[in-house]
Amino acid sequence: MNNSVGSSWPEGLFSADRPIRTWLSPGRINVLGEHTDYHGGLVLPAAVDRFTRFAVQTREDGIIQAFSKHFGELVELRTREGLAPLRPGHWSTYLTGSLAVLGDILPDRGLNLGLDGDLPVGGGMSSSASLTVGFLSALREFLGLPLEDLELVVRARRVEVEKVGVNCGIMDQYAVHFSRARSFVALDCSALRHENVPLSDPEVILAVVDSGKHRQLTAGRYNEIVAECDAALAAINRLLGTTYSTLSQVPPREYDLPEPQRRRVRHVLGENERVRAGIEALREGRFDRFGALMLASQYSLAGDYGVSCEELDVLVEEAMQVEGVLGSKLSGAGLGGVTVTLLRREALQRFTERMQTRYIQRLGRTARVFPCDLVDGCAHRRSVEGGGS
Ligand code: GLA
Repeated sequence: MNNSVGSSWPEGLFSADRPIRTWLSPGRINVLGEHTDYHGGLVLPAAVDRFTRFAVQTREDGIIQAFSKHFGELVELRTREGLAPLRPGHWSTYLTGSLAVLGDILPDRGLNLGLDGDLPVGGGMSSSASLTVGFLSALREFLGLPLEDLELVVRARRVEVEKVGVNCGIMDQYAVHFSRARSFVALDCSALRHENVPLSDPEVILAVVDSGKHRQLTAGRYNEIVAECDAALAAINRLLGTTYSTLSQVPPREYDLPEPQRRRVRHVLGENERVRAGIEALREGRFDRFGALMLASQYSLAGDYGVSCEELDVLVEEAMQVEGVLGSKLSGAGLGGVTVTLLRREALQRFTERMQTRYIQRLGRTARVFPCDLVDGCAHRRSVEGGGS
């Protein structure tokens, strides 16, 4: 066992007499099915090899001591003496919020945690779901918390909705937990059932490009959009005399609604169709077709749903100029963050060069490109010894 504490954790975070283990929680991308999860729709995300890394040591009292290298800050949370109040906008809210949603299965032992990793924080790859699912699954792994997989994911989403105040769907938490290596998670967000759909050709790869415009997925814009869609659903129910509970149940056709409701509904209904077609294309190995669906999704997200922005538009436009690129779109909530691009492996260098040179020429901003592998989510991971560095 590796007892090394390492030099870069603050003194006193770990005690020298007990082992430290490493627990990895991935980030996620989404290749199709954007802004459909909270409409009970279909999504196609995957966990990628960018991680929140937890260095973990158990302790016998009810204290969770966590140090974030990114924020350079230590917090102490107690589970036995009543939970600390949430600190809105603070990273520890994801941990305190997680403890709060555990309710009567709160652990009576504790953990020392060192948090770092290579997942951009707040950068559109779901660092918050990675932190929350990672924390809950680490509590389960190391303290034996009685939580089934799906229950863990549902509670992780509750942290976001009830404690952070973002009315998000379940895609991010689900993907971070359930993904399998070299596969996408084809998730039906109504049934909460998924299939793993492999990316079967090793010569077809994915690359993320970080626009450098980091959105704040706070309650604001995202919640407004969700509310507009709720109003659209109510209007459709009135129009049809129905009681559909999600937009994904609505028959796919044009509806006579005021803007922006009409365009939002069109996006959701079209996007669900694209996910269905995309799953089929992946199964048949038709990657050109899949790429075209990604691009159609981008146009719909930009034109109809209104969640792209100049930076993301430019990144997609430039990506599509590169020979060997099959498709490209924003990934996640949009309004900044990252794009995801499907491309032939041999095109990676051309792609990287073009993205870097053209983005700075056109917008004066630096684009960071990273190819990514699809990896196992937390449900399929084991901890490894050591965690000191
Ligand atoms: C964010 C949310 C998800 C999902 C995406 C858009 O990542 O957390 O639930 O709605 O945006 O597809």
